[in-house]
Amino acid sequence: MKTVQGNDTTTLTMEVARVQAIASISKCMDTIPSEYIRSENEQPAATTLHGVVLQVPVIDISDVDEEKVVKMIAEASKEWGIFQVINHGIPDEVIANLQKVGKDFFEEVPQEEKELIAKNPGSQSIEGYGTSLQKEVEGKKGWVDHLFHKIWPPSEINYRYWPKNPPSYREANEEYAKRLREVSDRIFKSLSLGLGLEAHEMKEAAGGEDIVHLLKINYYPPCPRPDLALGVVAHTDMSHITILVPNEVQGLQVFKDDHWYDVKYIPNALIVHIGDQVEILSNGKYKGVYHRTTVNKDKTRMSWPVFLEPPSEHEVGPIPKLINEANPSKFKTKKYKDYVYCKLNKLPQ
Ligand code: OGA
Ligand code: NI
Repeated sequence: MKTVQGNDTTTLTMEVARVQAIASISKCMDTIPSEYIRSENEQPAATTLHGVVLQVPVIDISDVDEEKVVKMIAEASKEWGIFQVINHGIPDEVIANLQKVGKDFFEEVPQEEKELIAKNPGSQSIEGYGTSLQKEVEGKKGWVDHLFHKIWPPSEINYRYWPKNPPSYREANEEYAKRLREVSDRIFKSLSLGLGLEAHEMKEAAGGEDIVHLLKINYYPPCPRPDLALGVVAHTDMSHITILVPNEVQGLQVFKDDHWYDVKYIPNALIVHIGDQVEILSNGKYKGVYHRTTVNKDKTRMSWPVFLEPPSEHEVGPIPKLINEANPSKFKTKKYKDYVYCKLNKLPQ
């Protein structure tokens, strides 16, 4: 139950329907509420190219041939906007702990306690437990609940939005955040070198040490009609890059050459998405990947994307060195907060 302060003297009481609750009611049925039924041109059953599991590039970043790694990351980012990274150096146990505490928050913590860290409907901040971010056309909804909170830098962290339970939640997330930064530094470096820039230039233009690391946990409960529903609707991420840990239930799809494909699940790999901001910094050389998620009839899917974003006041535009007469600027330079505002309100950039 949520109490919402009205604009004058009214105080409204509003119940937010969590997909997890709807899923437990729908379990014994073969229907879902109509707002979860996608239009025909979006329904996964009708729009997925079946029988083909798309093998997005898989890159072993422990390869001693660094030049080769740079080349593979740059090529994947130009061609696909997405790749999977293996042998990334984050111990399996660190990832398993991140997954365990996140799963426990969604499945073991009583609902009333989860609601204590719910996103405030009136607030500008994205952080907190919640159910759907974007205003979707036709009032359609995704079959997913989520939790957002920042994990880096320390000055940006608000522990109010971190679950208190399970008790090891904080430690597991802090450890993952620390390890993840080693991987993201490596990726920024490769993206920079891949454009003929010096190793540090891309990260610097992206916001340097102030880059915000925003964790989201997606919780997709079993869905009686996975053929008709979507988890997260098709989008590109607003971030520079997004580094995602999935669980073992496949569901991520990528749009390529006019078709939707399933992305293969590789245990312990990290899935790296190029987001809108790196597309802009690179003046369109690297492509933000268009992706969506499907849901499963019997199993709960979860994922842990970390969005690496500029600080909200940071200006992002094509890196000046990449602009010349033959390559005119394709994007406006603007503050990240203004980019976000336009995107969420579906205004032109
Ligand atoms: C997202 C997203 C993909 C996934 O939350 O932005 O694209 O695999 N998630 O859950
Ligand atoms: Ni995404």
